[in-house]
Amino acid sequence: MTEVAKLELDGKTYEFPVIEGSEGEKAIDIRKLRGTTGYITLDNGYMNTGSCQSGITFLNGEEGILRYRGYPIEQLAEKSNFMEVTYLLNFGELPTAQQLSDFNEEVGHYASLPGGICNMLSHMPPAAHPMGVVSSVTSSLCAFYPEYLKMPLPPEMRRKAVCQLMAQVKIIAANFYRRTVEEKTHRSNPKLGFAADFLNMMFASESYKVDPEVASALDTLLILHADHEQNCSTSAVRLIGSSEANIFATVAGGIDALWGQLHGGANQKVLEMLEQIQNAGGTAKQFIEKAKDKNDSFRLMGFGHRVYKNFDPRATIIKKACDTILKKLDVHDPLLDIALELEEAARSDSYFVERNLYPNVDFYSGLIYKALGIPTNFFTVMFVLGRLPGWLGQWKEMREDDTLKISRPRQIYTGPNTRDYVAVNKR
Ligand code: CMC
Repeated sequence: MTEVAKLELDGKTYEFPVIEGSEGEKAIDIRKLRGTTGYITLDNGYMNTGSCQSGITFLNGEEGILRYRGYPIEQLAEKSNFMEVTYLLNFGELPTAQQLSDFNEEVGHYASLPGGICNMLSHMPPAAHPMGVVSSVTSSLCAFYPEYLKMPLPPEMRRKAVCQLMAQVKIIAANFYRRTVEEKTHRSNPKLGFAADFLNMMFASESYKVDPEVASALDTLLILHADHEQNCSTSAVRLIGSSEANIFATVAGGIDALWGQLHGGANQKVLEMLEQIQNAGGTAKQFIEKAKDKNDSFRLMGFGHRVYKNFDPRATIIKKACDTILKKLDVHDPLLDIALELEEAARSDSYFVERNLYPNVDFYSGLIYKALGIPTNFFTVMFVLGRLPGWLGQWKEMREDDTLKISRPRQIYTGPNTRDYVAVNKR
């Protein structure tokens, strides 16, 4: 017999179907709730709300599990590469060698930006925060590709959109970086692979040569960021995309949502926090006390997660990678010692233990980016590049869902009741 949930309201009993996901997660299907009972649900921060059914990413926060299309993140980080993962997220299966090569070639068609976009970038103030630049310039791509404005997009255009954005957002980011350091832009060479091409566009000079081990470490970081089911920015992408907004505006909205310091912007804030501790000459313990003090707005950035309540599997891999890369590059960063000290102090502090607050993906990633020469205010842009395949895959899955409806939550109104207008000022 199918399981049902019973709800008693105003002396009546209503039944709602229980649905189960492929990993045994259960939900009460309340799609008919308002129609049958007149009630809605209230769930600030959507802590108990499933916004969709999705076959892309499985996450179990209690057990620290993350899988893309069934493949454990640990295996993908060790054995796959970022473009293969991009294909997996967007098209459902790992590609054959031929499929991957075709996909890379299609992405390679977009190895440059329209002249107008280059002009825009060259007029952006070099001191501007790169997240604002990357978002607005990504949104502006729609001006140069009006063929994407005719919605709904046919399947071949959705695939083109994936390829185009995978190529061009990376170029936008690297070209703006070159502007900030007053260097000429360097051409994209997709044959190098995503990470190596990006590093080359960023740092190309007569003496610079991409180190394959460094490129491979960056590739792994990008895989770890590639998708994370219905997080804030992905939900923004789905919400915007549900109105049939064009793909460039939709992704730009994801970039903007990611920028916030409680989400992707935390990686920049972690590094600034470590520097603050270093400059203050304080101890990890003192800052742990500050983070616990409810009268102090200071929070331990890079700690805590809405979903992970045991450990963040991405953080475990990143911590190891951080150690390896710093050793490989022969970087002795005192900020790493502060980070390790903070983690140790937090792990033995009852405040953090009771609230299940552990390092998240952003805690150690910044130290790697710093060692690679990426400036602090570009850290969240690195997260954008990593999360792009997930946003695109989730958007694509949503657009291919026949039951899709525009996202439009309701509310409980708490303002004044109806009242007659009386002019406050004499006219
Ligand atoms: N430092 C100190 N206390 C914290 C922290 C922290 N980083 N995070 C949560 N808490 C406390 C919080 O004050 C609350 O305490 P109490 O129960 O006494 O009121 C309790 O832990 C629960 O926190 P919450 O804010 O209700 O939890 P949430 O699920 O709404 O927020 C979070 C999750 C990630 C926004 C939050 O942990 C946080 O602000 N962390 C720091 C920012 C950060 O690192 N963000 C990156 C997240 S990972 C990247 C991504 O996927 O977005």
